[in-house]
Amino acid sequence: MLEALNAEIGSLRYGEQPPELYDPIRYLMALGGKRMRPLLTLLSSSMFTPDWQPFVRPAIAVEVFHNFTLMHDDIMDAAPLRRGQPTVHVKWNPNVAILSGDVMLVCAYALLSDIPDGQLRTVLKKFNRCAAEVCEGQQLDMNFETRTDVQEAQYLDMIRLKTAVLLGFSLEFGGLMAGADEKNTRLLYEAGESIGIGFQLKDDLLDVFGDQAKFGKQVGGDIIANKKTFLLIKALQLAGGEQKRQLDGWLHARTFDPQEKVRAVTGIYNALEIGRLTEAKMNEYFALGLTCLEGVTAPPERKAPLRDFVEKLIYREN
Ligand code: IPE
Ligand code: IPE
Ligand code: MG
Ligand code: MG
Ligand code: MG
Repeated sequence: MLEALNAEIGSLRYGEQPPELYDPIRYLMALGGKRMRPLLTLLSSSMFTPDWQPFVRPAIAVEVFHNFTLMHDDIMDAAPLRRGQPTVHVKWNPNVAILSGDVMLVCAYALLSDIPDGQLRTVLKKFNRCAAEVCEGQQLDMNFETRTDVQEAQYLDMIRLKTAVLLGFSLEFGGLMAGADEKNTRLLYEAGESIGIGFQLKDDLLDVFGDQAKFGKQVGGDIIANKKTFLLIKALQLAGGEQKRQLDGWLHARTFDPQEKVRAVTGIYNALEIGRLTEAKMNEYFALGLTCLEGVTAPPERKAPLRDFVEKLIYREN
């Protein structure tokens, strides 16, 4: 499936002139990534039909949409690295990244529109809702940067919006194209939301404890930006005395050495065993997602590949 997806992605033609508009799209799409979202769509569809090839092209819509969100997210997060290479706003400039991202969203809609007329209305409605929710989550993520009173439940809802709803849509989309019934498409969406929350918790973990060479993104970026990740929220809850004073100091520091801040905050996380707590939360959500998948009515041998793929996400290093 991955080969089929990559072949189709490689054959996409976005446009030529002006090159500043289209080169960054080719650049970012060629950097690869896990291609997880369209894989989820195809794995989901293949639970209901062995004939998943016609869904490859529409499935790419979710990958192009995802890459659009990354291009803009990297501006918002001032991220220097993506998939081991300079981000688009660094390699070109922020205006180029804004406009290239915009046209990628258009491209995602063009790919999505190629599904049969009988499915288009339903799919568009669901996709539009999902896309708006991703923006809501992204705005909350930024709003939270300047707050120190963000609660765990608010964080979980923020990541549900910015990350999980797209995984929900990706799974539901595969089911819809393959003719799954309403009960199954609902279970698929719910599975995707829970898996997506687990997936973002893992992303937050890797942002602190990952190996930059494998992760492909700047390790410590969330700490530098005061992102209200599960890790920071837990640390703010659990830190006492001197630890609390130090943590508050770093959160309010206006000028600082980024490396020093990352080292200090990571030290506090380690002392409070925040990694273990985050992993436990992540496992909870993956387990919820896998339970939803178990409830989908399809032959066990057709369900196994999706389950195996999701289980591997728990242990990913990039
Ligand atoms: C990164 O998504 C953005 C998040 C929601 C954490 P991925 O980890 O799927 O990134 P790629 O596409 O594999 O690079
Ligand atoms: C991004 O969350 C979610 C979206 C792009 C919508 P992050 O900001 O944590 O993603 P990365 O870590 O930059 O990939
Ligand atoms: Mg980011
Ligand atoms: Mg972000
Ligand atoms: Mg991240």
